[in-house]
Amino acid sequence: MVNTQRQIAPDGKPFTLVTLKNAQGTQIQAMDWGATWLSCRLPLLDGSVREVLLGCQHPQDYLAQQAYLGATVGRYANRISQSRIEHQGKTLVLNANQGEHQLHGGENSFDKRRWEILTRAEQAVTFRLESEDGDNGYPGNMRVEVTYSLTDDNRVEISYQATVDRDCPINMTNHAYFNLDGINHDSRGHRLQINSDRFLPVDSQGIPNADLTPVDGLSMDFRQPKTLSQDFLQDEFQRQVSGYDHAYLLDAQCLSGDKPAAHLWSSDNKVKMSVFTTKPALQLYSGNFLAGTPARDGGTYENHAGLALETEFLPNSPNHPHWPQPDCWVSPDGAYRSMTVYQFETN
Ligand code: BGC
Repeated sequence: MVNTQRQIAPDGKPFTLVTLKNAQGTQIQAMDWGATWLSCRLPLLDGSVREVLLGCQHPQDYLAQQAYLGATVGRYANRISQSRIEHQGKTLVLNANQGEHQLHGGENSFDKRRWEILTRAEQAVTFRLESEDGDNGYPGNMRVEVTYSLTDDNRVEISYQATVDRDCPINMTNHAYFNLDGINHDSRGHRLQINSDRFLPVDSQGIPNADLTPVDGLSMDFRQPKTLSQDFLQDEFQRQVSGYDHAYLLDAQCLSGDKPAAHLWSSDNKVKMSVFTTKPALQLYSGNFLAGTPARDGGTYENHAGLALETEFLPNSPNHPHWPQPDCWVSPDGAYRSMTVYQFETN
C-alpha cells in the first residue's frame, strides 16, 4: 500500500486514497489525484501477499514521474501525430507534449487532475472529472467517470463513461504497469499471450508509419505464449523504440469482452493475469524508459521493471478513419463507454 505521510497535492488539499477489499483478501488502492490505480495486493496460497503493480512510495512521488504509473489517461490515450486531427474538412490543433506530437492527452492531462469521488463502497469506487471546452485542444465540455470494482473472483474491472457537448474523439485507458513476480524482477521473464495477428509498426517517435502488419514470422508474434525476453529487440520494429511499444489490433471476438485480449504469467507461474476489454487494440509497452521512476521501496525503477497492457483505440486513429475498428468520435447525442478487466488467478 502507499504511504500517506506527505499528503498535500498541488491544489493545496490532501490526496484521498481509497482501498477496496474482497472476500479472498485481495486489496486494491486508488487515489483521487489522476484517478490513479496505486496498488494491487494478491494473497498467495503459501500465505504471502504479492504486490503486482508498480507504484510510488508516497502520493506526492506520482507528481515527479513521467511514466504514467497506474494513471487514468485521457482524453486521448497514446499518440496523435503532429498534435493535429483532420476531421470532416477541419483541422483540430491539440496541445503538443512530446516534441510535435501529443502523448496521452497533452500537458496537463487527466492523470494530473484531482477527480471528485462520486461514490465509494467496499468493493467499488467511482471518480468523476469535468473537462472544459478546449482542454488540451479538444472540443466541447466533457464529463467523464471511471469506476474501479474489485470482485470476489479477483477481477479488477475498470469502466469508463463520458459525455460531451460537441463532437470529440475519446480514448480512455489505464496505464498500470504489472510485475506479477512482485517488485524488483525484470518483467521480461513473464510469459505473454495476445489474441491478435496484426500490429502497427511505428517510427522512432512511436508514430504509426505503416499499415497493420501480420505478426507471422516476426518477434512481434505473441499468439502462442512466450516470454518477452525470448525475441527481445530481435528486429527493427522493436529497435526503433528500444523494445516492445506497439499496438495490437485484437481478434474481433475480444471486443465483446468475452474472449480475453491477453494472458500474462509470472515467471514463477504463481500468478496469472487475463485481460478482457471492449476496446479494439492493446498497446504492449515493455517499460523501455522506466529507469529513474520513483519506486514503491523508495528507490527508483530500472527499465523493464514492469510492463503495461493498455487497452485503447489504435494510436493516431482519428487520422486513420479507414482502420478496422469502431469510431472513436463521440457526439452530444451519444455517450462513450468502455470497460477493461484484469483478472488474477493465484496458486
Ligand atoms: C507509450 C510509451 C511511453 C509510455 C510512458 C506508453 O503508453 O507507448 O511510448 O514511453 O507510455 O509515457
